Amino acid sequence: MPIKVEMEKIVSLCRRRGFIFPSSEIYGGLSSCWDYGPLGVELKRNIRQAWWQAVVQERDDMVGLDASILMHPQTWVASGHLEGFADPLVECKSCHLRWRHDDLAGNNCPACGGELTEPHLFNLMFKTSMGPIEEEANVVYLRPETAQGIFVNFQNVLNTTRKRLPFGIAQIGKAFRNEITTGNFIFRSREFEQMEIEFFVKPETDKEWFNYWLEERLDWYVKLGIKKESLRLRQHTKRELAHYARECYDIDYLVPMGWAELEGIANRGDFDLVQHAKYSGKSLNYLDEETKEHIIPYIIEPSAGVDRSALAFLCDAYDEEPDKEEIRVLLHLHPTLAPIKVAVLPLSRREKLVAVAKKIYADLRQNWMVNYDDTQSIGRRYRRQDEIGTPFCVTIDFQSLEDKQATIRERDTMNQIRIPISELKTTLQAKLEGEALFVLPPGGKIWKGGGEE
Ligand code: GAP
Repeated sequence: MPIKVEMEKIVSLCRRRGFIFPSSEIYGGLSSCWDYGPLGVELKRNIRQAWWQAVVQERDDMVGLDASILMHPQTWVASGHLEGFADPLVECKSCHLRWRHDDLAGNNCPACGGELTEPHLFNLMFKTSMGPIEEEANVVYLRPETAQGIFVNFQNVLNTTRKRLPFGIAQIGKAFRNEITTGNFIFRSREFEQMEIEFFVKPETDKEWFNYWLEERLDWYVKLGIKKESLRLRQHTKRELAHYARECYDIDYLVPMGWAELEGIANRGDFDLVQHAKYSGKSLNYLDEETKEHIIPYIIEPSAGVDRSALAFLCDAYDEEPDKEEIRVLLHLHPTLAPIKVAVLPLSRREKLVAVAKKIYADLRQNWMVNYDDTQSIGRRYRRQDEIGTPFCVTIDFQSLEDKQATIRERDTMNQIRIPISELKTTLQAKLEGEALFVLPPGGKIWKGGGEE
């Protein structure tokens, strides 16, 4: 059975150890906005990097893009967001709380039981104005998805890279939605980060590529340590499908409040390129060199969230083990994702030990994010590193001064090995960047796709 951790434990750990803080906390916070602290920023950087490596760096058929957040307002007319990106909003006539009508089971306010107003459509895009004068003509929107930046650059990328179908464009960036109901920590916020692929294919090959990306994306989470039983694929019903989608599956993760969408994989057909060609008056055709025909490619879109991935990786990694006096809290984060890869811990603050430890610290940090800690007992220091998911601790003791050896202690097993200091870097490198990448979590298996092994 998947292990369910209470959300309060994750929130408390994130707060306590500096992963995630409420936004502008000294002013009382800002609803549904979050600030990533020193460890959170590393976790997010590692998630982005792992995604980029898998979908751009290691592939011939993908390139990257970084489009601006503010786009020409016509973009949102063409995309259908101005008209259709809206949720039905109702307000309680007694307590004035607002709800998404389609989230409610009954016809009364879930908080006080009061009568609700009739639903009206509420557009989720944040509006602002460009330039010093605030008037309707200057209205621009904060993008609600990064995808549109890719569609409007389709010809630019095609012309400059000479890519042929099938190929994809990947982008990571902020998106904004004025969500009616938020909550569950960073799961649903108003400012978040997406990792999106728009994969352009010949229309008749859409099904094949759609299935390919379902498998590929599931695999990514499993390879990075998420328990397979905590993931599932869920097909959208016809009623749920977004206005642009022909077919869509969610990759759901079992977050503390139940199954919830981590990533959406949609077949957008030719909807976006047709719409942008129509509204811009520019041709967004593709010349098929084999048939000499102009075609409009279909688009397969795997769209993931950095924040939701971070939450899933944290929940999945969280563990508690009985310890001598207390409970050992640890994060079994995959080494690729761990914010700190190695901690260097001299057994005492004696000058000679500190000198050796600091030299090792200076050397290792050229390769990875490394912590140096010489406060409190060694047991407490190990626990602190376990709690933030540091895979390895290097301990320097008095014997190290004699035999020039150090101890490497592994987080999950607490096993220790003693090796020459001169071999530390290569040993850690092999463990962090080589072997560890392919070591599955205990009981884990490689995902074969389609929900079955
Ligand atoms: N371009 C397609 C698109 O935007 P989506 O299902 O609306 O599709 C894709 O969003 C992903 O973006 C989601 O699976 C989720 O990971 C993330 N996401 C969407 N809304 C979010 C929110 N309010 N807070 C955090 N992440 C969000």
